[in-house]
Amino acid sequence: MKVLDPVCGMTIDKKGFIFTSSYSGVDYYFCSEKCKEDFDKDPEAILAMKIAREKVMEEERAESLKIMIDEVAHEIRNPLTSIGGFTRRIYERLPEGDPNKEYAKMIIGDVARLENMIRQLIELKTMGVSHKEPSNINDIISGAVKLFEKELKDKNIEVILELVDKPPVVSLDRNRITTAVSHFIKNAIEAMEKTPKLLKITTRIRDEHVEIAVSDTGKGIPDDKIKYIFDPFFTSKIYGPGLGLTFTQRIIQEHKGTISVESEQGKGSTFTVRLPVKGS
Ligand SMILES: Nc1ncnc2c1ncn2[C@@H]1O[C@H](COP(=O)(O)OP(=O)(O)OP(=O)(O)O)[C@@H](O)[C@H]1O
Ligand SMILES: [Mg+2]
Repeated sequence: MKVLDPVCGMTIDKKGFIFTSSYSGVDYYFCSEKCKEDFDKDPEAILAMKIAREKVMEEERAESLKIMIDEVAHEIRNPLTSIGGFTRRIYERLPEGDPNKEYAKMIIGDVARLENMIRQLIELKTMGVSHKEPSNINDIISGAVKLFEKELKDKNIEVILELVDKPPVVSLDRNRITTAVSHFIKNAIEAMEKTPKLLKITTRIRDEHVEIAVSDTGKGIPDDKIKYIFDPFFTSKIYGPGLGLTFTQRIIQEHKGTISVESEQGKGSTFTVRLPVKGS
């Protein structure tokens, strides 16, 4: 499995790696002895630098995504309107029993799906001002899990919630954080086709941040795909559209938080969100 060296930011394969350090119960991997030494000298400072670096990278990515969304929405919306409109006219004029009527119906259905995707893209870009209010993160998690209660039961997925005692009150847009957590849960459910099926959600407080970790025992994400999962349209499903994690990332960025992901193929994935307790 590949991880980032927290000192230089290089991607390394953690399998059989010799330069490692443990800090605050977490294992870190390094590309060289020099990086390991730098880390050991002042792990706090290195980890703060790592978080700042990830934030800048996420912001730059978000900016280029906005530009891309603009282009795509603009280029596709108008032709789509005429394809849909003219096909509907043809559909209405074709006599019952004409085999072409079925094809026209398929085009109308596909156009509607694309129009819906464009709507979601525009919503992504124009997501309005959020309504932050003092919130209890554990209540938000429990509420999001409740939305999937039936599906989790039907699919025999065991749920474990390990929620921190007395979480601090954090200023959050409850609806949006519920949406973000729901996207993680939905993806976890979709990833778990075989047993064991275990969805675990934990909350804890670390370095003035609330941490939410959503783990599953699903199929995992291939190493060469993991860097694309937050991109719009990246999907491994037939009818994606591949916008769930893009929305989630926008919501977390809006709360000045970060998302990290660890995944092992055939074992499962863990998505971790960090939200600042103060000033989000
Ligand atoms: N928990 C997970 N386990 C395995 N793969 C995942 C997990 N979460 C995300 N992925 C991968 O990342 C891709 C993108 O996820 P995302 O939620 O953005 O889109 P989607 O689920 O494909 O479509 P949508 O959410 O729009 O219905 C998924 O198609 C899947 O390949
Ligand atoms: Mg999804």
